[in-house]
Amino acid sequence: MFLPALATGLTRRYPACARSSPAAAWASPRCTGSRRRCFKRLGFNGADDIFYADEFRALGASVIVATADGSQGVHGFVTDAVPYAGAYTHVFACGPTAMLRALDAAVETDGQFSFEERMGCGFGACVGCTLRTKNGYKRVCRDGPVFRREEILWQTQPC
Ligand code: FES
Repeated sequence: MFLPALATGLTRRYPACARSSPAAAWASPRCTGSRRRCFKRLGFNGADDIFYADEFRALGASVIVATADGSQGVHGFVTDAVPYAGAYTHVFACGPTAMLRALDAAVETDGQFSFEERMGCGFGACVGCTLRTKNGYKRVCRDGPVFRREEILWQTQPC
């Protein structure tokens, strides 16, 4: 499991990592014997902005931080940490559309992307948060915010 996220999406990814952690596998009979491993890549502007890294480490996740100013970890964006993800079979990501588009080009597995779109109405009326997918137009606020990576038609999404 590979979980790249910018700061704004961290709290949404934490429960997914918690469910796949060794601690969760130990605590849940359903997950006993699970061999899933969580690779967490976090992107921030600088070292002073970092949060939740220790919480993910406490779950047993492999955590690498990327900072845009290079003050800690990998110098660059969270997508620059993708080569350090190890062997993963699924990607869960959240962040702005530009990040998700760059991530889509950097990974090869199935995944789920959670979009952080600007919302006008927030309940499906204004169509301001629409994505084009293989299954037609979808509203992030009403049909998402999580979509399967393989269903998104990136060439038609604004950045
Ligand atoms: S914010 Fe209006 S349709 Fe999604």
